[in-house]
Amino acid sequence: MLQNFSSIKSLHSTSPVEQTHTVKGWIKSLRNSKKFSFMVLNDGSSHKDLQIVVDATLENYAAIAALGLHSSVEVTGLVVGSLGKGQSIEMQAKSITIVGTIPEDYPLQKKETSLEFLRENAHLRGRTQLFSAVFRIRHTLSKATHDFFHERGYFYLHTPIITSSDGEGAGEMFRVSTLKPENPPMVSGKVDYSKDYFARETFLNVTGQLEGECYAMALGKIYTFGPTFRAENSNTARHLSEFWMIEPEVAFADLDDVADLGRDYIQFMMKRALEFNRDELEFLAGKNNNPDLIATLEHVASSPFARVTYTEVIDILKKAQAAGHKFEFAAPDWGGDLATEHERYMCEIHFKKPTIVTDYPKEIKAFYMKQNPDGKTVRCMDILVPGVGEIIGGSQREEDYDKLTTRMKEMGLDPAGYWWYTDLRRFGTTPHAGFGLGFERAVMYVTGMTNIRDVIAFPRTPKNAEF
Ligand code: 4AD
Ligand code: MG
Repeated sequence: MLQNFSSIKSLHSTSPVEQTHTVKGWIKSLRNSKKFSFMVLNDGSSHKDLQIVVDATLENYAAIAALGLHSSVEVTGLVVGSLGKGQSIEMQAKSITIVGTIPEDYPLQKKETSLEFLRENAHLRGRTQLFSAVFRIRHTLSKATHDFFHERGYFYLHTPIITSSDGEGAGEMFRVSTLKPENPPMVSGKVDYSKDYFARETFLNVTGQLEGECYAMALGKIYTFGPTFRAENSNTARHLSEFWMIEPEVAFADLDDVADLGRDYIQFMMKRALEFNRDELEFLAGKNNNPDLIATLEHVASSPFARVTYTEVIDILKKAQAAGHKFEFAAPDWGGDLATEHERYMCEIHFKKPTIVTDYPKEIKAFYMKQNPDGKTVRCMDILVPGVGEIIGGSQREEDYDKLTTRMKEMGLDPAGYWWYTDLRRFGTTPHAGFGLGFERAVMYVTGMTNIRDVIAFPRTPKNAEF
């Protein structure tokens, strides 16, 4: 047997009263009185703790009563029904073994600790109720992702992390090199990357999309779910330098198909969190002063999303501005990019629900997007959600070889460097479409956490790669 002890989660779900069990976990609180102590134990398996009554007659009672918070212990005891509020069982300890103690300088004492302080102690913050709730939900959404795509016939594709091509054409890549920075080989005044490890310049991938498209043209429907790296200098509450992205890619599909897919996927994740993480969501609603969290998730999980074109959005923003709405950045003219506050205005104030914005100007979007007949816009979508802004970016892809390579040249990219990608348009091309969902933004949306640094275990952001 791997574990000869019970998880607190299993005890709560089976309520095995009048049976003896062993549990192992960390002390969340300890109240001592003359005759006994109330110990609250959690082993991470569920949001619910286990209350343990420790009788002062236990031989090592003095040592137990002196334990600091987050000491680890092994407890064997009788599970009994409890009269205590909010719990149906508790345990009467028969024996307690002290496994690991806590010294005076333990940073996480019971007093309220700020999120900023917890970020500085990212190695310990998973122990708080807040972070363990967020990370159990993160797990649920991750499992839901695989279930959602698997159940719909998609194949999980692992795309490379190291690449030589800029998949978004936006030049925000981290270099991968084994050359000595203090003394690199030079040729005509430039670093000679032909002497580098891969005999060429290489980077961390900003997307798995281009490789995903190759396999969509073989397997029909694929999705990726992997780490993605962007060296953009955006120190905001919604940007990470290393984040996880899910990118489905579908052959013989158009933009409408993947817009529906994106909506269904977001709603599926919400339903799973409501099903498996009620306790966590209730806790987060209270902790983050977000009393409507569960009602909102239930509503969004089964309601239509709004849908508008970029051109309509510009019109709506201009009208809102004319009617007196104050934007920090003025509503953009047609052709300009939407700032976060504009995105949030659309989904939080105008529509008050997730909003799919389609057909942006080609100048502000990536080279691979399918061009519309108007010659000005591309067949793309962003899905914007309240509290977060853009959670999904996607498009139908340009499947025509000449149009694709012409657009690449217009945007200053050399099609020769993407020969394998353009080959897809020469060999049995099909209409196809896909999107990328930022996983941390989805975790923010479901948990109501407002800083992306608090939904990934060890955030990487500009000037920060501790841990
Ligand atoms: O809109 P993006 O840049 O689209 C792509 O990467 C496409 N290749 C996707 C595709 O069509 N297959 O990124 C997709 C999503 C964004 O909507 C956002 O949720 C998230 O990835 N994202 C980030 N999340 C955290 N930190 C960052 N720096 C992010 N950049 C993008
Ligand atoms: Mg985008």
